[in-house]
Amino acid sequence: MKVISKDLTNIFEEAIAKLYSGKETKPLEITVATNENFGDFQCNFAMMNSKILGENPRKIAEAIKENFPENNIIDKLEIAGPGFINIYLKDSYISDSINKIGEKYDFSFLNTKGDVIIDYSSPNIAKRMHIGHLRSTIIGDAIYRIFKYLGYNMIADNHIGDWGTQFGKLIIGYNKYLDKEAYKNSPVEELERVYVEFSKAAEENPELEDMARAELKKLQDGDEKNNALWKEFIEASLNEYNRLYSRMGIHFDTYYGESFYHPMMPAVIDELVEKKIAVDDQGAKVVFFDEKENLHPCIVQKKDGAFLYATSDIATIKFRKNNYDVNKIIYVTDERQQDHFKQFFKITDMLGWNVEKHHIWFGIMRFADGIFSTRKGNVIRLEELLDEAHNRAYDIVNEKNPDLSEEEKQNIAEIVGVSSVKYADLSQNRQSPVIFEWDKILSFEGNTAPYLLYSYARIQSILTKVSEMNINLDKNIEIKLGNKFEKSLASYLLVFPLSVLKSAETFKPNLIADYLYELSKKLNSFYNNCPILNQDDETLKSRAFLIKKTGEILKEGLSLLGIKVLNKM
Ligand code: ARG
Repeated sequence: MKVISKDLTNIFEEAIAKLYSGKETKPLEITVATNENFGDFQCNFAMMNSKILGENPRKIAEAIKENFPENNIIDKLEIAGPGFINIYLKDSYISDSINKIGEKYDFSFLNTKGDVIIDYSSPNIAKRMHIGHLRSTIIGDAIYRIFKYLGYNMIADNHIGDWGTQFGKLIIGYNKYLDKEAYKNSPVEELERVYVEFSKAAEENPELEDMARAELKKLQDGDEKNNALWKEFIEASLNEYNRLYSRMGIHFDTYYGESFYHPMMPAVIDELVEKKIAVDDQGAKVVFFDEKENLHPCIVQKKDGAFLYATSDIATIKFRKNNYDVNKIIYVTDERQQDHFKQFFKITDMLGWNVEKHHIWFGIMRFADGIFSTRKGNVIRLEELLDEAHNRAYDIVNEKNPDLSEEEKQNIAEIVGVSSVKYADLSQNRQSPVIFEWDKILSFEGNTAPYLLYSYARIQSILTKVSEMNINLDKNIEIKLGNKFEKSLASYLLVFPLSVLKSAETFKPNLIADYLYELSKKLNSFYNNCPILNQDDETLKSRAFLIKKTGEILKEGLSLLGIKVLNKM
């Protein structure tokens, strides 16, 4: 099925070619009408090109309108204001297109060749995931799903922080302060505790730091005992992370952590030195940037020979470049890492490793005061957050639907709870700070997961009634667009793939959320003005089919955000 904007562009191009062939005009853009009273779509070609063509934009618009080819898609064009062209679709085209919903869209105009590697979540071993990793996980997963939907071959990589000086300290902490029972019950929490214990002790006993360095050195030199411990820490952490990932429906293809790249780092340093990109600075290897880059120098190897976070990221690019057919690499982290990414992106460019890279950063999520306090102060644990969401959703379901079985209530509570947390994140522009408020995210009103999930469930309950009346909605059904509510809902269904494209282009999942929210609002006005049951056969069929297809789009759109729907709630 063709994406609507392509169908429209083709027709406009024909008219434009006829009028202005040979002229270097700016590309044609068709956008959704900003106000539905002025058509379904609009085109600003005339205004964009008035300078180039040396003509008044209204004149250009009129010429296009006069030379418009015969077609089955556009009912009429109207010229508005200084030269906008408002586009009204033919009812028959809308109806046919809605019948085609469910067929795959044709996104073949995108360059999907090769692999897209997306690096997200990436927590640090022996630490519980915090709220920053939550956002990276949720946003990364949504971008993964969106690009996959568009036909890209996606590789999700969890670039876990499994290397670094913390392991020397952890080994000492483990040997000295471990509470075996606590470690058995909640290993990562206990590792965090022994780490804190170590840091406190080291303040009074600085020689502990030397001991930690010695343990780290032993680990790096292959000492058996320390390596076994290191592996144990990684395994325990991944077990815990995977429990959360599976609860949230998150999937990774690879878990190449920082340590995986460790053996590749000496060659990276050699290449940097050889190409005179890194220079010696008091024994360390440092990259200095051109003044115009406005970047701090980047240390790639310390005086003692140790490599750094940036070094591993440089090696990662080399590995990916050599082992994949890279279309692009996408990284999802919080805003505080912007300089880090600018630095190592620049360094790999200087090395001439040409791969397309994007750092997709997001703002920090904050909690409205007192809404979520943890047992231990300021670090918000992901698991506690999900549990709290589940419990609060359970109370709501229990109140709204007391007759459901306990199992159903638990199931709904888990989906509503997890979805609400995800949607609260994904519905915001990722670059703005998010304030997390329980009552808001779990509300059945406004731009929330419960509102969208409820819209979907309500459709299913009406469709059940329709099917109980033995009305079949499978065959081609002509959609009647008699009033503006039907028309507005129907033509907006065609906009869905455009919201997905825009969302991928900007790496902003909230554009899909915006679309789904708008769609649900249109659905609501439709319900309020167009009764579905108790109508003549044709109207009933047309309206029921319209909400059925709305349901399909809601489900598809939510799935791109990693959110499962419910038939009942
Ligand atoms: N482990 C890092 C952290 O927790 C995030 C890693 C992001 N990915 C990367 N390739 N640098 O801050």
